[in-house]
Amino acid sequence: TRLYLSCDSCALSVGADELAQALTAQLGEQIDLQRTSTRGMFWLEPLLEVDTPQGRVGYGPLTAEDLPSLLAADLLNGGDHPLCIGLVEQHPYLARQQRLTFASLGHNRPLAMEDYAAQGGWSGLQRALNLSPQQIVDEVKESGLRGRGGAAFPTGIKWQTVLDAQAPYHRGFDEAVKFIVCNADEGDSGTFSDRLVMEDNPFQLIEGMLIAALATGATRGYIYLRAEYPHAHRVLQQAITLAEQQGYLGEAILGSHHRFHLQVRLAAGAYICGEETALLESLEGKRGMVRAKPPLPALEGLFGQPTVVNNVISLASVPLILSKGGAHYRDFGQGRSRGTMPLQLAGNIRQGGLVEVAFGVTLREILYDFGGGSASGRPIKAVQIGGPLGAYIPPAHFDTPLDYEALAAVGGMVGHGGIVVFDDQADLGQMAAFAMEFCALESCGKCTPCRIGSTRAQEVLARIRQGEDAEDNLALLTDLCDTMEQASLCALGGMAPYPVKSIVKYFGEELHSVSQTPS
Ligand code: NAI
Ligand code: SF4
Repeated sequence: TRLYLSCDSCALSVGADELAQALTAQLGEQIDLQRTSTRGMFWLEPLLEVDTPQGRVGYGPLTAEDLPSLLAADLLNGGDHPLCIGLVEQHPYLARQQRLTFASLGHNRPLAMEDYAAQGGWSGLQRALNLSPQQIVDEVKESGLRGRGGAAFPTGIKWQTVLDAQAPYHRGFDEAVKFIVCNADEGDSGTFSDRLVMEDNPFQLIEGMLIAALATGATRGYIYLRAEYPHAHRVLQQAITLAEQQGYLGEAILGSHHRFHLQVRLAAGAYICGEETALLESLEGKRGMVRAKPPLPALEGLFGQPTVVNNVISLASVPLILSKGGAHYRDFGQGRSRGTMPLQLAGNIRQGGLVEVAFGVTLREILYDFGGGSASGRPIKAVQIGGPLGAYIPPAHFDTPLDYEALAAVGGMVGHGGIVVFDDQADLGQMAAFAMEFCALESCGKCTPCRIGSTRAQEVLARIRQGEDAEDNLALLTDLCDTMEQASLCALGGMAPYPVKSIVKYFGEELHSVSQTPS
């Protein structure tokens, strides 16, 4: 009997390897245990799936101690058991999703090239090899794809800028080099979609970077990887070696005249190194300080050369756009938000995990239909979307459709798609203080509004919470927030006021009292 168990770090962290050992020890030759990518239903991990004539039947969350009762319940034939979730594909959490970028999740072994090809992998690259750079860029423009790292800048336009840029000769590289840099320094709270691509389907990222290289004339690429992702690091290194051996990377890609060399670089462990210009500084071996823009990295990026800097999800969306066409991707979504968004449900939520859906689904559907409400069973008071610097959205706005413009209209942002849930016991006054504390801690120190403003805002917030001159201090806080928002050099200082302002607006009373309830 064939069984499937994830080898993703989420499953590993809750005992998937121990379960695998116990299964092999007890069932030996009777089973063919495949270590696959995760389904992204984290609350069910470790999730064991059994092949049956009806489809795969799932059991989870399991520990090795569940094995005797599972075997007694005829596990190998998909027998009933209290931990059985039925046919996995029919689970409402999965059945309601529109998985495009994550279509392979649960179906492939991350480092098996034959599995990647069987899932349609490399067909986008094959097509791109027969197109001109301009035709590839046009296909991406047609898809309406916008940067999934958070800023939502149209990917096709960014690529066009790099394609049109004239690269100067670089002595160190001995050529007029252009670069593809993948921003894999996933640092937003509650986010893990980049990690899922890299650990669970690494060839998809490699293919996306190769297509970006063909589109822009780049010959070298770097994946700037969050150092706290050791498992992703191992998987990526092995995937790059395999891709090199099979002729997908290096000189003469698949026998063509194209070449592309790809390397992984471990990030420096600072949130600001996810900001693209600080990232480039860090890649160059310097301290991660923000550069002023212009010049745009597209024109003068890594080592001063034209550079595409794209997030993992943006690049991983490209193989499908090339293989099925930009129009296919564009058919999903609404308004100016096209395609799908991999949302990541985290915090106080019963069913945390990956929810890839077309733009337009409401927050309420995400929280209740997918998430199943709070993990604590208490009412949800607020959600923070788009990282530690995203606004807190109150239940009054839970019917807002999730798209870039609609969320911005209520003061929020989709960002990288992380949704962190808080129940009615959370102390949002404390969370307002945390936003400024975070900014003060992570500030690169280059500009005054962020470096000094965040520390002053922390002090003002502390005074408000102690009940000192509430009105004067609130006016001062508003002033500080406006200055940081308008005068900071980059998004860290510019966005730190968002959570604070949303809490002042929607949960103002919590700001004034030091809550006794732990959050
Ligand atoms: P931005 O709006 O300055 O730039 C967006 C992108 O478009 C950049 O890559 C920029 O170089 C490029 N661009 C702009 N005009 C262009 C043109 N004419 N041609 C070619 N390229 C052009 O935003 P920024 O500062 O890069 O990102 C801020 C966002 O990052 C925030 O909204 C936040 O959501 C997100 N973020 C994501 C994190 C994560 O972990 N994924 C962490 C922190 C922030
Ligand atoms: Fe550095 Fe903060 Fe200024 Fe950004 S806003 S450049 S992080 S000091």
